[in-house]
Amino acid sequence: MRTLLFLLVPAVLLLVPSSRALSLPRLSTSSRWIVDESTGARVKLSCVNWAAHLEPVVAEGLGKQPLDAISKIVVSMGFNCVRLTWPLYLATNDSLASVTVRQSLQSLGLGESVGAVKVNNPSLLDLPLIEAYKAVVANLGDNNIMVILDNHVSKPGWCCSNFDGNGFFGDKYFDPEEWIEGLTRMATLFNGSGNVVGMSLRNELRGPGQNLTLWYRYMQRGAEAVHSANPNVLVILSGLNFDNDLSFLAKNQVNLTFTGKLVFELHWYGFSDGQAWAEGSPNQVCGSVRASVMRRGGFLLDQGWPLLLSEFGVDQRGANANDNRYLGCAMGVAAELDLDWALWALQGSYYSRQGVPGLDEVYGVLAWDWCKPRNSGFLRRISTLQRPFRGPGLSDVEPYVLIFHPATGLCVQKKSLMEPLRLGSCDQPQAWSYSQQTLSPKDTVPMCLKAEGEGKPAKLGIICSDSRSKWDLISDSKMHVSAKPAGDGTGAALCLDVGPDGASVVTNACRCIGRDKSCDPASQWFKMVNSTRSVAGATSSRRGSSEREAGGGLISRIASFVFDQFTFVA
Ligand SMILES: *[C@@H]1O[C@H](CO)[C@@H](O)[C@H](O)[C@H]1NC(C)=O
Ligand SMILES: *[C@@H]1O[C@H](CO)[C@@H](O)[C@H](O)[C@H]1NC(C)=O
Ligand SMILES: *[C@@H]1O[C@H](CO)[C@@H](O)[C@H](O)[C@H]1NC(C)=O
Ligand SMILES: *[C@@H]1O[C@H](CO)[C@@H](O)[C@H](O)[C@H]1NC(C)=O
Ligand SMILES: *[C@@H]1O[C@H](CO)[C@@H](O)[C@H](O)[C@H]1NC(C)=O
Repeated sequence: MRTLLFLLVPAVLLLVPSSRALSLPRLSTSSRWIVDESTGARVKLSCVNWAAHLEPVVAEGLGKQPLDAISKIVVSMGFNCVRLTWPLYLATNDSLASVTVRQSLQSLGLGESVGAVKVNNPSLLDLPLIEAYKAVVANLGDNNIMVILDNHVSKPGWCCSNFDGNGFFGDKYFDPEEWIEGLTRMATLFNGSGNVVGMSLRNELRGPGQNLTLWYRYMQRGAEAVHSANPNVLVILSGLNFDNDLSFLAKNQVNLTFTGKLVFELHWYGFSDGQAWAEGSPNQVCGSVRASVMRRGGFLLDQGWPLLLSEFGVDQRGANANDNRYLGCAMGVAAELDLDWALWALQGSYYSRQGVPGLDEVYGVLAWDWCKPRNSGFLRRISTLQRPFRGPGLSDVEPYVLIFHPATGLCVQKKSLMEPLRLGSCDQPQAWSYSQQTLSPKDTVPMCLKAEGEGKPAKLGIICSDSRSKWDLISDSKMHVSAKPAGDGTGAALCLDVGPDGASVVTNACRCIGRDKSCDPASQWFKMVNSTRSVAGATSSRRGSSEREAGGGLISRIASFVFDQFTFVA
């Protein structure tokens, strides 16, 4: 485990106190942002889903690792929050709540898991289920991790199908009065827990019973019940059709007696659109699905409501073409909108799922054994999305554009004027301005990005009026960044791409623009993202670096660069 933690994000670990939690902020909302109520500064939720709603009603993985080790893994992977699921009956059926972890696993024939929990979490084994659940929440708090309590189902078990009796108000296992009672109890139980920052009222409403009148009636009542039992938490409402649809809110908002606590949640997977990604042209599918996501929920941001992408994820084994194509597009949208989100999922495996003991969760960030990441490349990739790009109180940097490359999770960086542009970390990105088709590094305006030719590095130059330096966002995905190479504006368009070394930024013929279904555009997908993140060499260090540069002859380097340009053009 130590190797894992050091390999991942050692700096984060050093900041986390080993014993007691720092106090976590009480959250509220300010237009579309989730903010720290006392400072008004943005708090970006970068959560991972952790299941505790299956038949055993025990947070998964307690047979694989000590609880505290799991919490520390969550931190080491860069998440600041867990969406912890729970079944309604845990809150409404006292005899279920008082079954012990041992009894629950035993009664399902999971004797091996009993032995495993005894080894890894002996102090939890004989706790009643509700106490074990509280222990998980408390330990996450000790590790400074925020928690969203997510009512995932009523009857413990895997979720979700249209006909499982847990889908909508009035279904066999979904009595609305019992649901409101359960929400009230959970909200009350965790009223004093500083790290419980939100409650997801009900996961993935679905099925033939769906009815908008009832959605408004019960969601409003549920929201009021939670808020009056626990005014600290964000109240998070999900939509219809497996939480793929909040479009009805465009016409009719909910009416609540309180303000500053309401958040909506939306789910978006590759399979939300069937096999569309694998069976279509990725650019076209990205364009149309993005538009549909905006219609189904994204519009809420513009109306001034926070939107949590509370489930998304991919098969982390990396061989699912539908998921892989979706991921590049989804990461572009998540960056562009700077969404709060919760990845599915933390768990690498289940005690038992759908009757299969030890089932492997291929969407899990942890491997089956919960000892290592399933795919460390994936974690590196999404780490860029774990920090906010913008929002209130983030920094006093003037808004700029960064150029994000979803396939790697990296950004287009300029090391110096002389060296080719490369992909690098987005932690201190290069700030660009993009206006009237010109892309300029903010610190060296009037230089601009230029296409020099097929397979050649994309370079900075000072002649910014020709077609080589006019960049357009072409293709349906709007993620191809393209310029025309020939001086007279004719000829085939070139697109930003990644060179054969995997890090240099070059221009190549634009690929996969049309209807070709077999073509994968990922390396040419770039996203311009509005940002106020502190930038490379900002303020005090900017002075430092330009002094260093001046020592190395900044002026003469620009001069020789200018000279190069003229010789090249001539
Ligand atoms: C409550 O939980 C107990 C223990 O799991 C179970 O036997 C009982 O059927 C449940 N009661 C209801 C009303 O679901
Ligand atoms: C939705 O529920 C309301 C209230 O029970 C009922 O009057 C209405 O007919 C239902 N609508 C549909 C389409 O089932
Ligand atoms: C919940 O906690 C708050 C303090 O954070 C307190 O004012 C309130 O009375 C509590 N509510 C209930 C229902 O216990
Ligand atoms: C909320 O209130 C507005 C204004 O009174 C009303 O038009 C709307 O229908 C209400 N929405 C619901 C869901 O009751
Ligand atoms: C990014 O900023 C530009 C210029 O201010 C604005 O037009 C655009 O809508 C912004 N994009 C997003 C996603 O907020």
